[in-house]
Amino acid sequence: MNIQELAKKRKTVRKFNNVIPPIEDIIYAINVAKEAPSGKNDQPWLFMLISNNEEKNKIREICEKGEKAFYKNSKGRLREWLDKMGFSWKKEFLSDAPYLLFVFSYQISPFSKESVWLSIGYLLLALEEKGLSTVTYTPSNYNEITNFIAPPENYKLEVILPIGYSIDPKPKYERKNIDEILIIKK
Ligand SMILES: Cc1cc2nc3c(=O)[nH]c(=O)nc-3n(C[C@H](O)[C@H](O)[C@H](O)COP(=O)(O)O)c2cc1C
Repeated sequence: MNIQELAKKRKTVRKFNNVIPPIEDIIYAINVAKEAPSGKNDQPWLFMLISNNEEKNKIREICEKGEKAFYKNSKGRLREWLDKMGFSWKKEFLSDAPYLLFVFSYQISPFSKESVWLSIGYLLLALEEKGLSTVTYTPSNYNEITNFIAPPENYKLEVILPIGYSIDPKPKYERKNIDEILIIKK
């Protein structure tokens, strides 16, 4: 598949089976991610891979505590969208997915957030190439999670990527037409 075919096929997945993917496929995706451009070529990304069930369950417990507070406070259009999509504070994917990949940014680097999210984009397509799925999960209570997983100093948690094989029946969502998002100046 070429890059456009991979991008078109990729979708967020929140339901995983318990088949453990080869760790080499995840390392492959991280090797792709590290080729992303970054401010000052600082390469401010750090990846942490967790597969231990006890640790995954603890992370789920911490995240769901934050989600409960988030759902209690959410209202208006965001709440309507969450309800329509069938989302709740429950995050089964954090314990069901065989792997949780934590991605951190080195806060001292210039444009660290932008650079790390670029690398995450690369990573998502590389996972797709290997037939793997994920969800870019951005938890509500970063501090509590960071305290638990204890990254090196000055590394900020950007996202948790549960990784595995999809059993999610959700469709690929529609994208805007190219005419709506591209202005070619004459
Ligand atoms: C920066 C960012 C943060 C996101 N945070 C979450 C999240 O916390 N939980 C979740 O279930 N999905 C999250 N998503 C996934 C989006 O909801 C999803 O990408 C979007 O609905 C489009 O669906 P698709 O990826 O299947 O095309 C996030 C996506 C991005 C890019």
